[in-house]
Amino acid sequence: SRRVLVAVDGPSGSGKSSVSREVARRAGLSYLDTGAMYRAVCWAALRDGIDVEDAETLGALVRAVHVDISTDPDVERVVVDGVEVTTAIRGAAVTAGVSAVASHPAVRAELRSRQRTTMDAAPTGCIAEGRDITTVVAPDAHVRVLLTADPAARVDRRARQVEQSGGAAEAGSLAAGDVSTAVLDRDAADSRVTSFVTAADGVLELDSSHLDLEQTVQAVLDLVLAAQ
Ligand code: C5P
Repeated sequence: SRRVLVAVDGPSGSGKSSVSREVARRAGLSYLDTGAMYRAVCWAALRDGIDVEDAETLGALVRAVHVDISTDPDVERVVVDGVEVTTAIRGAAVTAGVSAVASHPAVRAELRSRQRTTMDAAPTGCIAEGRDITTVVAPDAHVRVLLTADPAARVDRRARQVEQSGGAAEAGSLAAGDVSTAVLDRDAADSRVTSFVTAADGVLELDSSHLDLEQTVQAVLDLVLAAQ
């Protein structure tokens, strides 16, 4: 089988992380969560007291910061400048600031380049997921999927994720209405910077609103196995 590159985009709560990680396991690919990289940079900005609107200082930060992300789908681990932040980057503070951090072209250029390097280095190939993988980071990937789900399904999935990750990890767990606002506001902010609402030419749109995790994994896995 050949080395295969897989690009998956979608909004928050579309299930793209769970699906991509499981497909990577079953197909024997590396897995890259690009959202975790943006979250890691946001975490470093908060650490340093940098304003998330300060493009110039963030540009310097993103070029200097060391972000080590596990690409083993069985190991979820993110380390920033020697500090393990796997859980911290999922917290309320980072979630609230990450869209602003990700809006700066200098931040995107640096992370895009690191993402391409990681994908190219993966021995058996890689599945990368985010907001601009099918269109900007890896438009030439062998398999390109836009994973969507209607807003109700996405808010519901995100609420369950927040619950599972232990509301205690958040500074005060979120009420259902807050999760809904957080998800939809972040999508609106992200949509101004990246295009993940409609599928680009050659990108397959997969609506998972009425599919469970296993069915969605199977649909993407079929495409990957056919390309391998
Ligand atoms: O996927 P996740 O929700 O963890 O992504 C966190 C944030 O990172 C998104 O809300 C978006 O602002 C940013 N992001 C991005 N481009 C990507 C992946 C994530 O701008 N490819």
